[in-house]
Amino acid sequence: MTGAAAGPAASGIRFDRVSVAYGGNTVLDRLDLTVEPGEVMALLGPSGSGKTTALRAVAGFVRPASGRVYLGDRDVTDLPPHRRGIGMVVQQYALFPHMRVRDNVAFGLKARKVHKTETATRVADALELVGMSAYATRYPRELSGGQQQRVAIARALAVRPGVLLLDEPLSALDAQLRSGMLAELARLHRELPDVSILYVTHDQVEALTLADRIAVMDQARLQDCGTPQELYRSPRTEFTASFVGNANLLPVTVGSGTVAFAGRDLELFTTDATAGATATLCVRPHLVGLGDGPNALTGTVTEVQWRGSTHRLYVDIGGHRVKADLRELREPPALGQKVTLHFAPEDAVLLPAVDQSAPEAVTATGGAHG
Ligand SMILES: Nc1ncnc2c1ncn2[C@@H]1O[C@H](COP(=O)(O)OP(=O)(O)O)[C@@H](O)[C@H]1O
Ligand SMILES: [Mg+2]
Repeated sequence: MTGAAAGPAASGIRFDRVSVAYGGNTVLDRLDLTVEPGEVMALLGPSGSGKTTALRAVAGFVRPASGRVYLGDRDVTDLPPHRRGIGMVVQQYALFPHMRVRDNVAFGLKARKVHKTETATRVADALELVGMSAYATRYPRELSGGQQQRVAIARALAVRPGVLLLDEPLSALDAQLRSGMLAELARLHRELPDVSILYVTHDQVEALTLADRIAVMDQARLQDCGTPQELYRSPRTEFTASFVGNANLLPVTVGSGTVAFAGRDLELFTTDATAGATATLCVRPHLVGLGDGPNALTGTVTEVQWRGSTHRLYVDIGGHRVKADLRELREPPALGQKVTLHFAPEDAVLLPAVDQSAPEAVTATGGAHG
């Protein structure tokens, strides 16, 4: 724990009913969200859901139509960006091409008129934090994408911000670099335990890997917020269920102590919903088993995908497509074969309201959770 780039700047972020509109179009709708000091909060959502706008409201690049933004106890809503004590990194590195690495990193300090010797120390500390000390005299064009992004992070850290804002910082990198940088960011966070990090991404793997908590955004609104485990195990909405991890979202009718799906009664751990109501049952594909068991459902195999260590089966059950991720099968079933799937009552989550027009569960990013 060097604390090299951590400083006295205010840590912790609070959005207090923050709304942002462009030309009368609300793109951030009454966001209430608190990021604790030292916490990594991921803002996760599809493109256009308002994530960058929320970040820019914290940085001071966009002015809320209503609501307040706090850093620590300080209301910064009316402060210009350079007086907020924030470090920010965006997707496209945005390094100055004509400046060497060390001058890029020193940029924010020069602007703040930090003394020369102090600047040298902070630049060296920040470069060390991101493992780029050996590259101080290079130009950005002499660096790989991943190295450029490290420099951009060093530049953000050099001002010793209490708050670090990262906007899809890995999305311009290829998959392999991305997973290396994810581990780097996790390490960086351990070395800067007091800095609050707001991490914007549309990639659930990044959010699940890095974040202490995830705020799920859709259509300008906060949909859900919780630890990765909470959102994964007990999503509150269909949107969260499908966006965080894979999900079978089955339309059901609530009975007494059971729910009816495709003409069968299924047992659940809890059903506090009103009998007769329609609802959605969320069952994770990897918690579906093959063969007889509790909540058995028989149907016809419509697709078999071999995914290395697993088989993904698609099974038509009464006109609904159910996905099952099974440990690699010696003898996978043939297309058209009748199979029985099952799941444990405690592995299903009942969600309110069915939107019949909802698209098929999003399998946004694949990867380890795909
Ligand atoms: N400067 C702007 N002027 C007008 N509309 C904008 C501007 N910036 C963003 N928007 C719109 O606001 C919505 C949210 O954008 P953004 O916050 O960038 O989403 P995200 O980062 O989740 O992809 C989008 O519909 C986008 O087109
Ligand atoms: Mg964005």
